Amino acid sequence: MRDPLRVAVVGSGPAGFYAAGGLLASAEPRVEVDLIDRLPTPWGLVRLGVAPDHPNIKAVSRAFEKIARQPGFRFFGNVELGRDVTHDELAERYDAVVYAVGAQTDRQLGVPGEELPGSWPATAFVAWYNGHPDFQHLEFDLTHERAVVIGNGNVALDVARMLALTPEELAPTDTTDAAIEAINDARVREILVVGRRGPVQAAWTPVEVGELGELAGADVLVDPAELELDPASAAELESAPPTVRRNLDHLRDYAARAPAGKQRAIRLRFFASPVAILGDTRVEGIELVRNELVDGRAVATGERATIQCGIVFRSVGYRGVALPGVPFDDAAGTVPNERGRVLGRGREKLPGVYCAGWIKRGPSGVIGTNKKDATETVELLLEDARSGVLQERSGEDLEQLLADRGVVHVLYAGWEAIDADERGRGEPLGRPRVKLATWDELLAATRSPDS
Ligand SMILES: Cc1cc2nc3c(=O)[nH]c(=O)nc-3n(C[C@H](O)[C@H](O)[C@H](O)COP(=O)(O)OP(=O)(O)OC[C@H]3O[C@@H](n4cnc5c(N)ncnc54)[C@H](O)[C@@H]3O)c2cc1C
Ligand SMILES: NC(=O)c1ccc[n+]([C@@H]2O[C@H](COP(=O)([O-])OP(=O)(O)OC[C@H]3O[C@@H](n4cnc5c(N)ncnc54)[C@H](OP(=O)(O)O)[C@@H]3O)[C@@H](O)[C@H]2O)c1
Repeated sequence: MRDPLRVAVVGSGPAGFYAAGGLLASAEPRVEVDLIDRLPTPWGLVRLGVAPDHPNIKAVSRAFEKIARQPGFRFFGNVELGRDVTHDELAERYDAVVYAVGAQTDRQLGVPGEELPGSWPATAFVAWYNGHPDFQHLEFDLTHERAVVIGNGNVALDVARMLALTPEELAPTDTTDAAIEAINDARVREILVVGRRGPVQAAWTPVEVGELGELAGADVLVDPAELELDPASAAELESAPPTVRRNLDHLRDYAARAPAGKQRAIRLRFFASPVAILGDTRVEGIELVRNELVDGRAVATGERATIQCGIVFRSVGYRGVALPGVPFDDAAGTVPNERGRVLGRGREKLPGVYCAGWIKRGPSGVIGTNKKDATETVELLLEDARSGVLQERSGEDLEQLLADRGVVHVLYAGWEAIDADERGRGEPLGRPRVKLATWDELLAATRSPDS
């Protein structure tokens, strides 16, 4: 058995960091980890997905910082698998490669008008307000009175809440300045969140539903008639986890409240699916069909309604993207695997290739879910190392390959320089950080004299 083992982990979100942490904790074999990310910044969706008004959740990055400070850890930011380095090149250089690249795109609704200007995947809006450098050129037209959010997950609630925050609520966050300005100037009065099934089937969680009711600048509107449960939903509620009942309690509270006449309103509607997004050159409305539940599924009735709106956010889930040279299950949007061991075309295990996180199990679960998931992968990887399954490595160090290729990679010290720069800009403003959000700014900050 080779000792130390050298492992490349591709993707520095929660799954990548938990995998790195698990590997570095191994005593026999000892393991060295190179963590590769296409961005100059680590943490994946913790930096670029988690809502900026949830700083306590973003604080999980402190646990990742501890992992990064361990001996045997190196960060290679600004290195994209498929652009700067191939799977085969990693396989030659490392005893094992773990893919933890998350889910980089959105699921489609498949309705006419989905591609109209003004119809956006939530993925893009989230990446924009969080300062993802690939999304800063986008312009969201918030000059219309109604915005529609499709989906009943926590991301849909993030989008609705961000649109509803007041200047005072946005000011102490690390939302980008462009997004703060756009949301403050928005003329949106109603944010309509549309779920295809009922309140019992919604995917969101109680804390997130409950905080809607705390917003300073938005009433929450729920039609009490939509909370009357059909017999199947009532039965489902009986055996559902307590969180579902707590969701319902919040919704009942909102339905009973008299609107306070706040500047904006978040209206939660259930049992409706989009049939078409309407407009000639941009979004002008959305056609919804009323659904009924049949065996837990949303089935369209003939009852249709058109609602005027100026912007639509499709928040119906993220989706994994194929990596060149790595097997991909297109239907599932994941890397085919057995508990994290990557499988080839004939579903045979590919020695030395593993996956973790959203690319392993699909785009669901909170940050902590990825710890258990990555731990499972790491345990199997170490088991394979001990039983001699891993193949010989031969290539030179990744650093040499990148240098030969002229790829300027960002070391962990480079990220620390970005971090210090952002925190320094935020401090006098009482904000956790002011994010650098363009590639040029980010890369320039890594070249500060100390990095
Ligand atoms: C909008 C949103 C808000 C969320 N809010 C919360 C929350 O409040 N609390 C909570 O517990 N969970 C939250 N989650 C869930 C949580 O973020 C995920 O469970 C978690 O981030 C998934 O981890 P991951 O490592 O699999 O993927 P990611 O976090 O997406 O990390 C993947 C990493 O891989 C990198 N990468 C991708 N392709 C390549 C490539 N080709 N080469 C190199 N690197 C690559 C990416 O740049 C990224 O850094 C949220 C999710 C979303 C989408
Ligand atoms: N604060 C937090 O903890 C937080 C914040 C954000 C995200 N997250 C987590 O990140 C993960 C991803 O969140 P997510 O919101 O993207 O996904 P999600 O939880 O899977 O929710 C997706 C929603 O889209 C709906 N949907 C899917 N296809 C649809 C269609 N064709 N038409 C209409 N609706 C459709 C789903 O309805 P059906 O149920 O009917 O399929 C569901 O309501 C989740 O695990 C979430 O909890 C956590």
